[in-house]
Amino acid sequence: MRFIIAGNFKMNGTLAGVAAYADAVKAAEIGAALIVCPPFPLLPAFAAALPRHVGVGAQDCHARASGAHTGDVSAALLKEVGVTHVILGHSERRADHGETNADVCAKAAAAVAAGLMPIVCVGETEAQRDAGEAVEVVRTQLAHSLPDNFNGLVAYEPVWAIGTGRTPSPDDVTAMHAAIRAALVERFSATGAAMPILYGGSVKPDNAAGLLALPEVGGALVGGASLKAADFLAIAASAPTV
Ligand code: PGA
Repeated sequence: MRFIIAGNFKMNGTLAGVAAYADAVKAAEIGAALIVCPPFPLLPAFAAALPRHVGVGAQDCHARASGAHTGDVSAALLKEVGVTHVILGHSERRADHGETNADVCAKAAAAVAAGLMPIVCVGETEAQRDAGEAVEVVRTQLAHSLPDNFNGLVAYEPVWAIGTGRTPSPDDVTAMHAAIRAALVERFSATGAAMPILYGGSVKPDNAAGLLALPEVGGALVGGASLKAADFLAIAASAPTV
């Protein structure tokens, strides 16, 4: 399976910057599959500007198809404007918007039903890791954040590694990805064996190759370093060729 490199712009990016970013992506020869996840208003522009083989991801969607939900966006509308993926349950949404595992589960079910590929984020806090609870926390998040119809990607993002420049040791990433794989296989059998598991949290051009070489790491979810196309593409270029 090809490595998947997804860029999470968070609340960054401008309409004026879309063309140059897309041109840089078009000019690069990258073996990995790319997904660009800008803020909502930039999604149609990126969908139009990027080559068709590059995915376009939103950073959230609502669980309902339509209705009185001011400020929210449905999965079906995202699909209509050219979106292919949606990040769900990012720790910033869990923290800033109080999203629970049940919320994430309902959103993921809606995304799959609408034909989007969810990228469901899980990860422990530093206190949970220090207490030796990291694997159990992530197993619980997975059990309750993934719907029965889940077909998508999982991103392991330790909360303490996001935006901090710190990353877990190779052994800790390997152990967590093995635990996630085991949980996916237990729940989804052969489908679970094939679901890509991304690592996220301070992935940069200079540490990407090491992280992407670890067992069961099928790609990266990149925050800060995805804002500059050159850095994002350098990370993608460091993925092993398969
Ligand atoms: P970071 O963010 O790469 O800036 O650490 C990753 C993420 O939150 O998806």
